[in-house]
Amino acid sequence: MSQSRFDVNEQVQIPNGDAKRGQQMFEFKCGACHNFEDDKQELAAPTLKKIMGKRIGSTLFHYSKSMRNCNETWTEKNMFLFLKDPKAYFRDTKMAQTKIANPQERADIIQFLKSL
Ligand code: HEC
Repeated sequence: MSQSRFDVNEQVQIPNGDAKRGQQMFEFKCGACHNFEDDKQELAAPTLKKIMGKRIGSTLFHYSKSMRNCNETWTEKNMFLFLKDPKAYFRDTKMAQTKIANPQERADIIQFLKSL
C-alpha cells in the first residue's frame, strides 16, 4: 500500500561515479533544497547527511506517506532508480520535480553522497 515500488529483481547497470563531478551536479540540481546538517530540526527538505545505507524517510522531515512508511534503506541501486524519477517509486512524493535522466550524472551524485 504505502510501500515504495522498487523492484528488487530489476537489473541496473550503474556506471562508475565521480564524487567531484557529483558534488558540482548536487550543488546545481539538489542544493537549493537539501543540505547535510545534523538532524536537529525539521528543514525544508530532509538532510542528506550520511544518507547512503540509512533508512528511507527517517529524518525529522515531514515526509510524504509513502516515503515515511518505506521500510527499506538507501542502496546504490534504489538511489539510482529514485533519482531518475522519484514519483515512479513514491507516488505521493514531495520531490516530484527533480528527474536526472543521465545515468552518469546519477552515478556521480551517488558517489558524492557516499563520500560524505
Ligand atoms: C525542490 C526541492 C528539492 C530538490 C531540488 C531535490 N529534492 Fe530531494 N527531496 C525533497 C523533498 C521535499 C524530499 C522529501 C520527499 C517526500 O517526503 O516524499 C526529498 C527527499 C529526498 C531523499 C530521501 C531522503 C530520506 O530521508 O530518505 C533523497 C535521497 C533526495 N531527496 C535526494 C535528492 C537529490 C540527490 C537531489 C538532486 C538530484 C534532490 N533530492 C533534489 C526536495 C528536493
